[in-house]
Amino acid sequence: MVADIISGNEVAKAMRAEMKEEISKMKGAGITPGLVVILVGEDAASQVYVRKKGEACDELGILSETVRLPESTPEEELLKLIDKYNADARFDGILVQLPLPKQINEEKVLMRIDPGKDVDGFHPVNVGKMVVGADSYLPCTPAGIQELLVRSGNDPKGKHVVILGRSNIVGKPIANILVQKAAGANATVTVCHSRTEDLPGLSRQADILVAAMGVPKFVKADMVKDGVVVVDVGVNRIDDPTAKKGTRLVGDVDFDAVKEKAKAITPVPGGVGPMTITMLMKNTVQAAKVHHGWTG
Ligand code: GUN
Repeated sequence: MVADIISGNEVAKAMRAEMKEEISKMKGAGITPGLVVILVGEDAASQVYVRKKGEACDELGILSETVRLPESTPEEELLKLIDKYNADARFDGILVQLPLPKQINEEKVLMRIDPGKDVDGFHPVNVGKMVVGADSYLPCTPAGIQELLVRSGNDPKGKHVVILGRSNIVGKPIANILVQKAAGANATVTVCHSRTEDLPGLSRQADILVAAMGVPKFVKADMVKDGVVVVDVGVNRIDDPTAKKGTRLVGDVDFDAVKEKAKAITPVPGGVGPMTITMLMKNTVQAAKVHHGWTG
């Protein structure tokens, strides 16, 4: 079996076209969704993500502001900035790019964001709502994975989803989302991590395998069964002397080997990445609807 390639670029493009139309209607009624993105420090990957978020806002007609702060920024200064944007009605969403420098307590920062503006879905109020299946802002990468699975005809209902990785950004939330009694979910979920015994044995049982542990090409062909659907969340930059930049991006999956056994697989880049940003736009539009009572 040679896998279908699940194109996040294509799904994201279709969703962005739908949203663009909706935003233009909202603007006609005097409502412009707004997103502020705050980046502290110089992390190379974060710089790229933040730039892409701004570009996506511009493309869709969302008001965007990017605040870049030095690596040495004191925690109190960041908290004050969040208070300022919590009170600024032009902005429906506030995103603080992670990771943060070590002098800043991530939990404290995420808890300071108004849960109604938490378009990342990281505030404990939104995490709690997600777990109990109440309406909330879902974290963007897991929500994007769910959307990709459903739109590519790989509904997780009744399937055994094995997740590799237990981060707060991907592993834990995707497990909670896919186990819900809800459309696009209803999966049986196993979460594997660095202390799991016989991880390859478990990953071979997956109907749908989500690789999100951040180890380049970790998933080999002998770790999957024939006909598996693979979602690769990894974004790893590795040396490649044949590439123009001397490096290239690879996922957590050995793509060339695994695609020979899989039914479908997401590529890196062009798989999960574009979906994450698209779901951020969707959450921002949703926040604007709530803030303005828009039901159009
Ligand atoms: N760093 C890596 N992924 C994310 C994300 O989805 N949101 C934020 N805020 N930071 C991240």
